Amino acid sequence: MKDGRAERELSLDFLRVTEAAAIESAKTMGQGDRKHSDHVAVEAMREVMDSVPMRGRIVIGEGERDEAPMLYIGEELGGGAFSDEARAEFPEVDIAVDPLEGTNLCALGANNAIAVLAASERGGLLNAPDIYMDKIVVGPSCRGAVDIDAPVADNLKNIARRLGRDIEDLTVICLDRPRHKQLVADVRAAGARIRLISDGDLSAGISAAVAGTNIHALMGIGGAPEGVITAAAMKCLNGEILSKFVFDPERLGVDRTKVPPREESVDRIRGMGINDPDKVFDTNDLAPGKKVIFAATGVTDGSLLRGVRFFGEGKRTHSVVMTTDNKSIRFVDTVHVEGGPDAVIRF
Ligand code: FBP
Repeated sequence: MKDGRAERELSLDFLRVTEAAAIESAKTMGQGDRKHSDHVAVEAMREVMDSVPMRGRIVIGEGERDEAPMLYIGEELGGGAFSDEARAEFPEVDIAVDPLEGTNLCALGANNAIAVLAASERGGLLNAPDIYMDKIVVGPSCRGAVDIDAPVADNLKNIARRLGRDIEDLTVICLDRPRHKQLVADVRAAGARIRLISDGDLSAGISAAVAGTNIHALMGIGGAPEGVITAAAMKCLNGEILSKFVFDPERLGVDRTKVPPREESVDRIRGMGINDPDKVFDTNDLAPGKKVIFAATGVTDGSLLRGVRFFGEGKRTHSVVMTTDNKSIRFVDTVHVEGGPDAVIRF
């Protein structure tokens, strides 16, 4: 991505990509088949993304090449309809995708499923394997006030001080998992309120960085890929994520047989070019790019985005597109008209 103009134009292309994935998966809402919901989102995202004028490369996708037919790590796409000469002029872009974040949420018709992607110049997004990461996410006023290795009570005290409120007035959002028993107990003991969610720590992290959502921090263990995409959003929102890979079955609250041995995960991490598997990764480690784009479209209704609406003559989507270039945060409400010249457009 050479200049701000190219970045802005690409961000609108990426908006089309997340809108397409959201529309297709939203059609399957409540059908109880999370794999199918994900599959249609992946297909739609792949198709539209290939039309974007770029030389794109997937760095976080649906899995390794042999386990994912589309949007696999390393897949090159973009500029599909253009000649090789034209493609050679297109910007080189690294892309992290989560075509349907919250597959269960969509399958059950629950809130906060989104279609999401992040993009940057080459090397601007950490190539993280699909293993677990401990994360803490806060908004701009709390940058530098939290430490992922510090006791929960200390972090909450510092967040409260930065926000000029009591700990009792804070809400922490956290995935409802057995592995978070101690974390939840610590938050409660410190006096803060807690919102337990069944899935979707990416959109939850974003809500922690946006004032007015009444969420003041995300804490706990979720997927590493979601951590990288969250970091891209934090770059645009001036928020902060701190994170660490987690391999220990005890911390994950699972039987030793349920997770690969530490050495296996460490090998995967090293194979992706990360030398220190125990490092604390901050926003810039996860998303070091100078020019980062983040786009998300609501699939089901959520705290930040409305879900897809279907009506006779079309659909309506609600998205957010952000870039580091001009720090603009665009909320985009799109009516996709299909009904021909007599279609009635609703406001
Ligand atoms: P999917 O969209 O792939 O279903 O992931 C949802 C999610 O809740 C993420 O938001 C979160 O990071 C991860 O799963 C947590 O993993 P687990 O369900 O194994 O605890």
